Amino acid sequence: MNRFKRSMQWLLIAVLLPASALVYAQGTVKIGVVAEFSGPFADYGGQILAGMKTYLKQHGDVYGGKKIELIVKDTTGAAPEVAKRLAQELVTQDNVDILAGFGLTPNAMAVAPVATEAKKPMVIMNAATSVITTRSPYIVRLSHTLPQQTQPIAQWAAKNGIKRVFTLVSDYGPGTDAEAAFIKAFKAAGGEIVDSVRTPLQNPDFAPFLQRIKDAKPDAVFVFVPPGSQTIAFIKGYEERGLKQAGIKIIATGDLTDDGVLEAMGDGTLGLITSFHYSAAHDSPENKAFIKSYAETNGTKLRPNFMAVGGYDGMQAIAEALKKTQGSTDPDKLMAAFKGMKLMSPRGPIMIDPDTRDIVETVYIRRVEKVNGQLYNIEFDKFPDQKDPGKQ
Ligand code: PHB
Repeated sequence: MNRFKRSMQWLLIAVLLPASALVYAQGTVKIGVVAEFSGPFADYGGQILAGMKTYLKQHGDVYGGKKIELIVKDTTGAAPEVAKRLAQELVTQDNVDILAGFGLTPNAMAVAPVATEAKKPMVIMNAATSVITTRSPYIVRLSHTLPQQTQPIAQWAAKNGIKRVFTLVSDYGPGTDAEAAFIKAFKAAGGEIVDSVRTPLQNPDFAPFLQRIKDAKPDAVFVFVPPGSQTIAFIKGYEERGLKQAGIKIIATGDLTDDGVLEAMGDGTLGLITSFHYSAAHDSPENKAFIKSYAETNGTKLRPNFMAVGGYDGMQAIAEALKKTQGSTDPDKLMAAFKGMKLMSPRGPIMIDPDTRDIVETVYIRRVEKVNGQLYNIEFDKFPDQKDPGKQ
């Protein structure tokens, strides 16, 4: 190389270096969002992403000097192999710093080993089977667990005159967690379990199960099925098969009366009592601001539900962690920042348990009522500071 060429090369480096250093100093944090955006669970990803965007619109998208960039991938449903492949691509091709999203348990479970191997923090925004957080030291959960929700409603039911219960759950992680937690807490409170059935995760037909429940004449049926077409079908079948007329009550976690589906389920839900961490009717300034901002950000009249709040708080936790690490995406520094973190959520105060990386939150008891002509879950009792009993 002649001297002229070499000096031009140095000149080029001298000119480009400060510019690239500047870009690096600002930098971006890439978040790979893996969730369900099509198929029967399409609302899960939709709500999670809308919640994340709401946080960024309300509070800005630069934290610790880094700009947040979202890269969104669709698992197309409960599809663990697809979720795993998408997460691997996000890590190896897109160079994401953080994995986030996960409406459904099977998708979260499949991605856990990817998070461990690649050392990427994985922020769970819904998937609610207790064991998920134990599957990688890089997982943190900002949503809920089924045992956390179920224990309070079991105790409430036993105190409120319900003695004999039939359980019906979806036959996968959150369902079997809910079943186990209900049976344990309800029996401990003096209740009797009449019988238990599990329904398939994909396309269940509730008719034969509802008939069995009717014939068993329990005081109530405890139910967990994933919200959407299944909860609508369950309520319809419960009414059509005369369980309501037979005096069989429903008790459930708030997945059944999901704010995103409640209006579509109709007046058959009036009076239903459930336990849950979030209601769109939650009376707080943070929730009012969230509801307003969600509509503005996403240009929708759709009601935000608990998955939207999971997305919002997951984004909030990432933002706060980046502030603490001053923009460093070192996975161990980010995980240290998550542990013990306290946040104010639209649902109320929340904390990340430093030992389990799982959420500690208030579980409310609510009743479906009509407010200004619309169905809402109205909170009337609460169990503060609930940890995941699945881990104790
Ligand atoms: C889950 O798959 O973990 C799940 C899905 C929907 C819910 C709760 C949990 O409402």
